[in-house]
Amino acid sequence: MDILVFDTADEVAAAVAGRIVDAVAARPDVVLGLPTGRTPIATYRALRRLHHAGHVNFARVTTFNLDEFAGITPGHPGSFRTFMDRHLFSEVNLAPGRIHFLDGAAPDLDAECVRYETAVDAAGGIGLQLLGIGSNGHIGFNEPGTELVTRTHRVHLAASTRRDNAALFGGDIANVPAEALSMGMGTILGAGTIVLIATGERKAQCVGSAVQGPLTTQLPASFLQLHRHVELYLDRPAASRL
Ligand code: F6R
Repeated sequence: MDILVFDTADEVAAAVAGRIVDAVAARPDVVLGLPTGRTPIATYRALRRLHHAGHVNFARVTTFNLDEFAGITPGHPGSFRTFMDRHLFSEVNLAPGRIHFLDGAAPDLDAECVRYETAVDAAGGIGLQLLGIGSNGHIGFNEPGTELVTRTHRVHLAASTRRDNAALFGGDIANVPAEALSMGMGTILGAGTIVLIATGERKAQCVGSAVQGPLTTQLPASFLQLHRHVELYLDRPAASRL
């Protein structure tokens, strides 16, 4: 793993945005895997600015988001699709037809997961996968447990994950869907390069264990140790247990 440590979260965001700009310059039709959550907001802000300044052209880029809540429509204010529209998609020149999202309101959620895996394959796989990490070590919505599911699948969300996402649903955990759809760890590990962003003291312990601890389904991020090209972009607090 390449571990890059920066003084501030803003420096992390600038560096990751620069990393994405370089990836698009090297391969204008790159396939990006994208996360939601608080962590990438600053990165998406930096990317928007770079795009407005003419430093990156997304016209031929394809994107696949990692996950989506089940039981809500893409237009729901709490959906990850709405989050991405607000923070990135509405402000850059991605072609709508190249933006891929799991549909949490699909009538058959298992079929929706198969459709998504097929679409990732048809696009030639993910070239660069951007990731956040849950404070419990989850990646996408691959939660800690006794087993991991390799491919895109339905997930029962951990209570801590629902709490972490309550802000999207008016601050009330009861409003956070109990289920979600997520790329599997195998889907994620199939990416050419993985860029994980973690900022803040809350992430220090899981980052430390993911890098230095044993491989365990209790900490899905530990499976990133199996991948050849992982880059960690951390601020000092997140790197404090390394
Ligand atoms: C979201 C996702 C999650 C988040 C993780 C960290 O698409 O895949 O794994 O990356 O929950 O969230 P934040 O950044 O809010 O701490």
